[in-house]
Order: sequence, then C-alpha cells, then structure tokens
Amino acid sequence: MKDEHSTSKLWGGRFNEPTDEFVKRFTASVDFDQRMAAEDIRGSLAHARMLEKAGILSAEELDSIHHGLEEIAQEIAAGTFPWSVDLEDVHMNIEARLTDKIGLAGKKLHTGRSRNDQVATDIRLYLRGSIDRIGAELTRLQSGLVQMAADNSAVIMPGFTHLQTAQPVSFGHHLLAWNEMLERDYDRLSDCRVRLNQCPLGAAALAGTSYPIDRSLTAELLEFDKPTENSLDSVADRDFAIEFCALAAILLTHMSRFSEELVLWSSAQFEFITLPDRFCTGSSIMPQKKNPDVPELVRGKTGRVNGHLISLLTLMKSQPLAYNKDNQEDKEPLFDTIDTVLDCLRAYADMVPAIEPRPEQMRSAATRGFSTATDLADYLVGRGLAFRDAHEVVGQAVAHGVATNRDLSEMSLEELQGFSDAITEDVFSVLTLEGSVAARDHYGGTAPAQVLAAAARAQTKLDQRA
Ligand code: ARG
Repeated sequence: MKDEHSTSKLWGGRFNEPTDEFVKRFTASVDFDQRMAAEDIRGSLAHARMLEKAGILSAEELDSIHHGLEEIAQEIAAGTFPWSVDLEDVHMNIEARLTDKIGLAGKKLHTGRSRNDQVATDIRLYLRGSIDRIGAELTRLQSGLVQMAADNSAVIMPGFTHLQTAQPVSFGHHLLAWNEMLERDYDRLSDCRVRLNQCPLGAAALAGTSYPIDRSLTAELLEFDKPTENSLDSVADRDFAIEFCALAAILLTHMSRFSEELVLWSSAQFEFITLPDRFCTGSSIMPQKKNPDVPELVRGKTGRVNGHLISLLTLMKSQPLAYNKDNQEDKEPLFDTIDTVLDCLRAYADMVPAIEPRPEQMRSAATRGFSTATDLADYLVGRGLAFRDAHEVVGQAVAHGVATNRDLSEMSLEELQGFSDAITEDVFSVLTLEGSVAARDHYGGTAPAQVLAAAARAQTKLDQRA
C-alpha cells in the first residue's frame, strides 16, 4: 500500500515504477518557472478564496492556506525555499510545501483546478506585470527623446535618403521620428495587455470543472477584465506570448535602427554626437578607441528577440487542442524577451539624455552634398518654371558645383543666372540651411516651430499615460 500522505510526488498513484532520473530532469521546468512564484501564489490565493465562497473550503482551511502561502512567499524571498527538481515545476513545489506546512487543507487547494489553467494564469499575470514595467521604461526613454528634440529644434543636420545627403532637417525632428516609432510600440504594448487580460482559471485541465466555481470572482480578485470564454482555448492559447514577442521584435528593430545611427553619428567620419564615456568601452590594443558598445549590443540583441518570436510561432504551429507539454517550452523565450527588452530600454533611457549633440559638425555636414538643391528648384517654380524644367536647371547647377567643388550657396549670382535668368538676388535666402528648414512649415514638417509644436504634442501624450 502506497503512503497517501507522501508529498514527494503529487501524481504518483497510478505509476508502478519511479520516474527515470534523467527524465525527471528532462521534463522539469522548476529551474526557470520559479520566477513566476509570486504569481503562482497570488493565483492560488484567489482560487482558495473563491473555493471558500463557493462552500468548497471552510473558513479555517482558507485561513491556513493563506498563512501557509504567505510563509512560502517569505521563504522564497529569503532564498530559503527548498526548490526540488523531483517536484517538477513551480506549481507542484509550492503546493507540496504548503501541504508539508498545513497538512490536509493544502491537499484541498487543487480542487477544481489543474496545472493547465494554473500555468496559463501565472504566465498571463507575469507577463502583465512585465508589460507594465516595460511601459514605464519606454515612457522614460520617450521623455528623454522628446525633451532633447525640443532642446534641438533649431539644430540643423543633413537629412538622408540612401544615406546620401538629401535635404537639411532639424535634429529635433529626427529625434521625434524615433519617438513616433516608440509611440507605436507603446500602443502595441497596451493592445497586447488588453487581449492578455482575461483569466483562464476554472478551465481546469481542459473541460472545466464539476464544482460550483465562480470564475468571475477569481478574475476580479486577480484584476483580470473577465474570465476567458472557452475552457479548451484557455489552456491551449499562447497568443498573448507570441503577440508580446512580435511587438518586442518590432521594438528591438526600432532600437537597432537607432543604434545604427548612433554608431554612425559618433564615428570620426560623422562627429554628429558624443556618446557619454560611461556608455562606451575602450580597446585592449588601440589606445585611441572609444567604442559605442551599448548601441552595438542593443543592435545585436535584436537577433535573439527575433529568434524568440520564431521559437514561439514554431512551438505552437502544430499543437492539437488543448494543453500539450510542448507548452512548457514557451517560458524561456518569453522570459528572455522580457529581460532583453527591459535591459535595452533601461540602457537607452539612461543614455539618451546624456548624448551630446555637436551642432556645428551637423551644420557643416549639411552644407555639403547640395542639400538645398530642392529649395532652388522650388524657387524657380515660384518664378514660373514647370517643376521638371526647374529640376533640369538645378541639376546643371549641381554638376557645375561638383566640378568646381562648391555648394550652390557659394556660387555668385551671375554664375547662377547662367543656368536660369529667372534667378535674382533673393535666391540666397532659399539656399541657406535655415531658410530651407524654416520653409517646411506645416504639420509634420521640419521647420523649428513645427518641431517645437510636435514635441509639445508628444509630451502631452506622455503626460496622459499612467
Ligand atoms: N510545467 C508545466 C508547463 O510549464 C505546467 C503545466 C503542466 N501540466 C501538465 N498537464 N503536465 O506547462
């Protein structure tokens, strides 16, 4: 006769031989899912409260479960909790410990519940908390960018297409372009939270439970918007994790693009910015080197986050309903994505306000590469030429500039008039960088006044969060 009080295995009843030692380790998840311990305890408490309300647990049993779980939470926080691989995962470790502490009441906690709805609940709770922390870091980064944009609305840099000088733009405008990318990321994050915020508890193994449970109560106690709709889907669904990894991949793709620009801009060839020393490292051989390691590493980390998205999609693609053990493989990619996103955002939120722009270098770069050529064409259109004819005229002037190694603004009026007699003395006001930028004076344009207004709108949106 087996010992029915033994807690070393919680499902040993029907087995005739012990689990193979390697298989135990192979199938265990406790090493990585113990980070959801707080959520597991919170979920168990809500479940126990609901069981007591439904008359399934007595008030005394609920009380001792409550105290037992509190003690366990303290042990975990203090690092004294005896995690055991024999107990497979975080759920059974905690449940077994509870029964060790409080006896029979601990064995009743799992009434009307399965690890399948339990783990689905834990991951949602854990991810929800992570989304909130990521949202706060994202907001911190965006606040730094928006402030820097407002401070640099009148700083002029070359704008690029094909990484060739295109037209002058405000440096603040460029920073606000980054902010727009992050704003969409924040929206996606908020969206993901909305779809995630439903409670799977009560789905039990897959079919629901025969006990008179109150799913709305557990949902409410755990601050979910509502219980999930379908018990099979509740235990089988990991869309929320995929969705999170997808938005994280887009976010990191954005950060990778920022990184690429920071790496270029801080090089001796650009010199648009100085990165703070504390975010850079040196070379062990070349004494002059100051390497932009933080942006480079963020660019590199995009690879692993993209990989985690593919891992999760591949994990789910062939699974029949409902729960399968495959799902245990959802945690490591998800957790690593969360950690990576938080680290990258933290590094950038700290670093961005400490970046020093170099306005004179940016300005001087903008005077090379004929960045006001379009302005000259627009000027000629204002003097009655068709845009295509104006384009041709300016193209010839640029060719002359290339041949004589001068910008359009460095040519004499007579020289310019050689290309079109529509050109008069006032041409020089449009050939200046300031004139060019100020002329783009519409919603979304790069005129300093528009950049200031856009920064104010962006700040208002940030203020409306939380
Ligand atoms: N450790 C498991 C996981 O992460 C918990 C659920 C196990 N359920 C089961 N029926 N074996 O998915």
